[in-house]
Amino acid sequence: MPKWHKLEDEIRQVFRLYGFAELRTPLVERIDLFVRSIGASTDIVAKELFKIEDARGARLCLRPEGTVPVVRAAAAADMLRARGVSRLWYDGPMFRHERPQQGRLRQFHQFGAEMLGDPSPTADIELLLLCKRLWEKLAIDDKVVLEINNLGTADERAKYRQQLADYFAAHRAGLAATDRRRLVENPLRLLDSKEPRAQELLAAAPVINSCLGAGSRAHLDAVTAALEECGQSYSLNPWLVRGLDYYDLCVFEWTQRGSTKRMNAIAGGGRYDGLLEQLNGQDCPGVGLAAGKERIIALMPEEASREDGLFVGMAAEVFDQSYLVSLCEKLRAEGFAVICHAKPCKIPTLLKQASASIARYAVIVGPRELSEQSLTVKPLRETVDQFTLSFAESVERLRQAQAD
Ligand code: HAM
Repeated sequence: MPKWHKLEDEIRQVFRLYGFAELRTPLVERIDLFVRSIGASTDIVAKELFKIEDARGARLCLRPEGTVPVVRAAAAADMLRARGVSRLWYDGPMFRHERPQQGRLRQFHQFGAEMLGDPSPTADIELLLLCKRLWEKLAIDDKVVLEINNLGTADERAKYRQQLADYFAAHRAGLAATDRRRLVENPLRLLDSKEPRAQELLAAAPVINSCLGAGSRAHLDAVTAALEECGQSYSLNPWLVRGLDYYDLCVFEWTQRGSTKRMNAIAGGGRYDGLLEQLNGQDCPGVGLAAGKERIIALMPEEASREDGLFVGMAAEVFDQSYLVSLCEKLRAEGFAVICHAKPCKIPTLLKQASASIARYAVIVGPRELSEQSLTVKPLRETVDQFTLSFAESVERLRQAQAD
């Protein structure tokens, strides 16, 4: 949990720095929404949806990702017209029926960001720089690398798809059955193939560059120029197509340094200028990213668990529940985190239990303290003397100690 909390604190801060507002969408959506946007032939939709049918027979599913729900919700709330450019972020569980293994879970947690309404490469650049800043804050920046590709416009991609289909069709006989299916359904998926024969063929396969027009090239050039200016290294990977069909122009993935496996991607995203058109006919460009929290946490250095607060107990011979609870409330009113030990026991046992808790100080009331109306405070983590003082003086000393 210390790592999850550190990550979640940094996520909130970085989104605040870049002017994003949080959006929370339901876990359940209509299946049709994802089929129309992510693509019926993608693994996510074809194999990995957790499907649900409600009592009236509506075809629903647990959300496999956040972009499509965010875009749907933003459009439904009429945010897109009202606001010009929307900068939205989200964080929550996603569900994909994949084969569970290290780094691949059926319920995993993503945070992500979507910038809607801005067609300029500045939006793509800001998202990549936001990631750079976050990786630095999490001390994982030396463990990840950035790969980028240009998927061009829909027309350019169609031209490339044809070139790719012609090339692989000439070698159809040697292809694995899954790749022969990809050849028919979506030849771009072949770039992602893990089959040995397809991998061999890729070495001489056409690349998209020759199909790109001046506008698409200029978009990616602007992105890479800004990354260089800001000291972010990257590599261009012409085989990076991503597992979802809604992308165009700039796509990217942050992967673990030294690893080529897609399941080691910690974050991915790109531009999806045609997605809204597909969903509800609205013309609104977008670009976004999502990152897997479990995969990031696996790379983060250990966080020292922070001992904090007070463990408050009363010795058995004077135990008085009302007195104890009221003391704890008074300490909380002064701003201290308090674990109330509501069990009469001997002082050595109390101290043992206090040490085993996450508290930094034990606050004990024994017979003497009760008669003097004082508190004995024993530091549990430092070799500093204990003290017995009045309530007000104890609070003062504890405040000073916490500030040090
Ligand atoms: P994605 O590449 O499918 O993109 O997922 C983003 C990240 O989620 C991955 O890089 C990975 O870290 C994590 N992830 C995905 N599947 C799993 C899993 N089964 N177990 C653990 N972690 C996983 C998207 O979801 C797009 N919506 C990103 C995007 C936002 N594009 C534009 N805007």
